[in-house]
Amino acid sequence: MIELMECVEKEIKQILLNLKINVDDVKIVECNRPELGQYQYNGIMALAGKNGYKPQDLASIVCKKLQECDIIKEASVAGVGFINITLKISAIIQQVERTQNEIDKLSAPKNHKIFIDYGGPNVAKTLHVGHLRSADIGEGLKRLARKLGYNVISDVHFGDWGRQMGMVIAGIEELMPELQFFDPNFEGEYPTESPVSSEDLEKIYPQANIKAKEDEQFLDKCRKITYELQNGRRGYVALWKLFVAESMRPVMKTYDFLNVSFDLYEGESTCNDLIAPMVQNLLNNGVAHQSQGAVVIDVGEPQDKVEMPPFIVLKSDGAAMYSTTDMATILSRQNRFAPNEYWYVADNRQSLHFMQLFRAVKKANFVEPNTTMIHFAFGTMNGKDGKPFKTRDGGVMGALTLIDNVKSAIKNKMSDSTENSAEICDIISSATLKFADLSNNRETDFIFDVDKFCALEGKTGPYILYTTVRANSVLNKADVDDVDKYALIDIDNSSYIDVLLNIIKAPIVLQKAFEQKALNIICDYLFVLSNSFNNFYSQNKILSELDVGKKKAYLKLCKLVSKINTEFLDILAIKVPDKM
Ligand code: ARG
Repeated sequence: MIELMECVEKEIKQILLNLKINVDDVKIVECNRPELGQYQYNGIMALAGKNGYKPQDLASIVCKKLQECDIIKEASVAGVGFINITLKISAIIQQVERTQNEIDKLSAPKNHKIFIDYGGPNVAKTLHVGHLRSADIGEGLKRLARKLGYNVISDVHFGDWGRQMGMVIAGIEELMPELQFFDPNFEGEYPTESPVSSEDLEKIYPQANIKAKEDEQFLDKCRKITYELQNGRRGYVALWKLFVAESMRPVMKTYDFLNVSFDLYEGESTCNDLIAPMVQNLLNNGVAHQSQGAVVIDVGEPQDKVEMPPFIVLKSDGAAMYSTTDMATILSRQNRFAPNEYWYVADNRQSLHFMQLFRAVKKANFVEPNTTMIHFAFGTMNGKDGKPFKTRDGGVMGALTLIDNVKSAIKNKMSDSTENSAEICDIISSATLKFADLSNNRETDFIFDVDKFCALEGKTGPYILYTTVRANSVLNKADVDDVDKYALIDIDNSSYIDVLLNIIKAPIVLQKAFEQKALNIICDYLFVLSNSFNNFYSQNKILSELDVGKKKAYLKLCKLVSKINTEFLDILAIKVPDKM
């Protein structure tokens, strides 16, 4: 809460109390008509009648008293009894000076551990746009929680263990049956380089997948290989290790581009040793039972409106599947970290899976009953036609294709204005993509319109970057090194005051974004702050301002905007280039 607003609210509450009007909670809000005031109080109408006043009369009594308050410049009645309030500039400046302090207070270390699982790329499968969303949203939530003093551990959770691994091995064997990896009698050293490239893998897997659908015998073979891999057959494990590493190379490059990184680079396979004892225990203590050859946990609850299918721990062929590894992974995370909260960032088609998983691990007492488990679901990124993103030829849009589209649009835009290095182009493209992704409400589907998101105007990454670079460039040109010590002064200049009023919102924005786990709140704020700064910039001269006090105040303003923009962009994992 902004202290300044609290002061006004306390003041109103006291005035009402003096009139013997008791009210629990006085809340002022930003004025929806800025020309009338900065804040407004809308509570008078509800209170007046009950206490024997006409709303307008009560409003003017309150206004008169407010006028005496030393932080208020003006209080006036509007309409049927709204109160509009304009603060003294000196009071606003004092609040700006308290802002960093408020942020520091919010950032105090909390004794609370959060484990976040996001990214979730799959071995031998192209990264699709959904994986980009998971990476961007997860990275942002992680950074936001860290900023607010939480202890956060992140894991990428590679999809490296299910049936698709057996399919890839079978697929490679089809192509190169002579490789030693397939010879059960081979006892020597296996090669140390992957026999297939990541591009090969992206073909081998879909081909094997199609074949398995058509050819029962091949499917059986894939099943068997999966089972043997999971049970440690030497040649399969050696081959698997090589193609997993190969497959992850381009993924890591994409994460670099997105400025995304993890504490742990584990996968579904990491928990493999825990699976057999876990299943045995679940059966022994009656949490799980056998059903048609599979091992399942009933996770239905009386309040369920639709029937909840049982959670499958192990399939009848004995191989570990997605749900198996997710469950055992929680055991492994619990053993090592015992977090207070588990966060999973994955698209909304997986909602049922996570609901079942959370119920299953609670039923099995893997986590404490009060451990918070959240699935941060997100919607699909759609093409201009409103349908899930497709490439021109109708295929699923790969993450790299989308990144390339954005990169070339940015390159086109930039080329005539600046001679941008490839590095700057990458930074801007990454910002474009990430800001577009994060500025939408996480849960709804949204249309990715490359032209719109690349624009230098509007709620876009380039616009926010441009504003930040502009503020930095003024500071560079001013060429002074003690701007931090410059004072904001009382200047009756509405564009200047507007920026100050936006600066003081920073702590509330952080708090609200965290409470709602909504990164779009940060994006909205960056847009509003940047707009007010650009408006200020176009209406005032800064470097050529002759009044030294004013010039220093304006430079300080540039510094504050640059600092907040840079810090908030950093929460979104967006870098600011040196120039644009
Ligand atoms: N690999 C999965 C996918 O591509 C996402 C993994 C999400 N995390 C998890 N622990 N299940 O859909």
